[in-house]
Amino acid sequence: MLTRLPALTDVHVHLREPGATHKEDWGSGTAAALAGGITTVLAMPNTNPAINSSAALTEGLALAAAKSRCDYALFLGGGAANAAGAAAAAQDAAGLKLYLDQTYGDLKLDDMRDWQPHFAAWPHAWPLCAHAEGKTMAAAILLSALHDRPLHICHVSTAEEIALIRAAKERGLKITCEVCPHHLFLCEDDIPSLGAGRAEVRPRLASKADQQALWDNLDIIDCFASDHAPHTLEEKDGQNPPPGYPGLETMLPLLLTAAAEGRLMLDDIIARLHTNPTRIFRLPPQSETYTEVDLNAKYEIRAAEGQTRCGWTPFEGWQVRGRVINVVLRGQPAYRDGRLLAAPGSGRNIRNHTGGQNDA
Ligand code: DOR
Ligand code: ZN
Ligand code: ZN
Repeated sequence: MLTRLPALTDVHVHLREPGATHKEDWGSGTAAALAGGITTVLAMPNTNPAINSSAALTEGLALAAAKSRCDYALFLGGGAANAAGAAAAAQDAAGLKLYLDQTYGDLKLDDMRDWQPHFAAWPHAWPLCAHAEGKTMAAAILLSALHDRPLHICHVSTAEEIALIRAAKERGLKITCEVCPHHLFLCEDDIPSLGAGRAEVRPRLASKADQQALWDNLDIIDCFASDHAPHTLEEKDGQNPPPGYPGLETMLPLLLTAAAEGRLMLDDIIARLHTNPTRIFRLPPQSETYTEVDLNAKYEIRAAEGQTRCGWTPFEGWQVRGRVINVVLRGQPAYRDGRLLAAPGSGRNIRNHTGGQNDA
């Protein structure tokens, strides 16, 4: 028997085009999305070149339009001098992404005075997201409070961070957050078996206690997001291993496995991959779009069977329970029984369909 889930969105993926299509491109990345039961991806701007202007956004969206197999939107990246230009293009972007801590790419904003113009100019009704860890997160939350505006915190990974977000929410601040499967299912104890290079990720794998804190505070986690960040094995096992794990294909099976084990409910997954992302990111309805899963099917995760171009997964060999069987995108068969049916170019830019009537 199959269980039908509503349209699922991964609000945080890196698809590497333009600039690093040997890791992933819009075709392979959205194939991975469909294989993972995801029908919309929101893609990050730390490409090469970065998506930091409306011209770069237009170029990035043209690449997406040509190859994407699922629906999509693309974030703009906040720079030291683009607040007004970015804000003017807000309706065309998934949201604005601020890189406030060091990670992959060159979009980091060091000086807090460079954050301010974005908190002021970016329209309150459109998503503002931050990579902000630890005390940097505290500073970002302060700016959200000073500007009385919503802020979505990416990939929360520690007990300290989740406690701060709980306090901010209890105070009524307009904070939402996401957690990644790798921080729910892995911790620093797994680094030796993964290997140091492969284990590199930002935020880093945290302690067992941090991992447990995420599970204990599930009620304040708004979204699950993969932070799908493909790098090749050659790169991960090389001299300067870049941070990041692929995750689009393993997120839903891992969460369904946790549901089978009673660690969370199916409704918890739907809230964090459908209902809350739809509200926070102002996603338009995807009619006749759904994912059917076999909740009892057990299988072993194997990178060799995956769609991502990067060719590996930190969950190699894991036994999961809950398999994506059928994905329908806007009435069209997109994926069935391990076969990819959606053609490159069949995905749509979800920001072309908002109509602009809710602008603020
Ligand atoms: O591990 C990460 N990889 N964290 C990030 O914030 C960026 C990402 C990437 O683009 O590779
Ligand atoms: Zn990040
Ligand atoms: Zn990321």
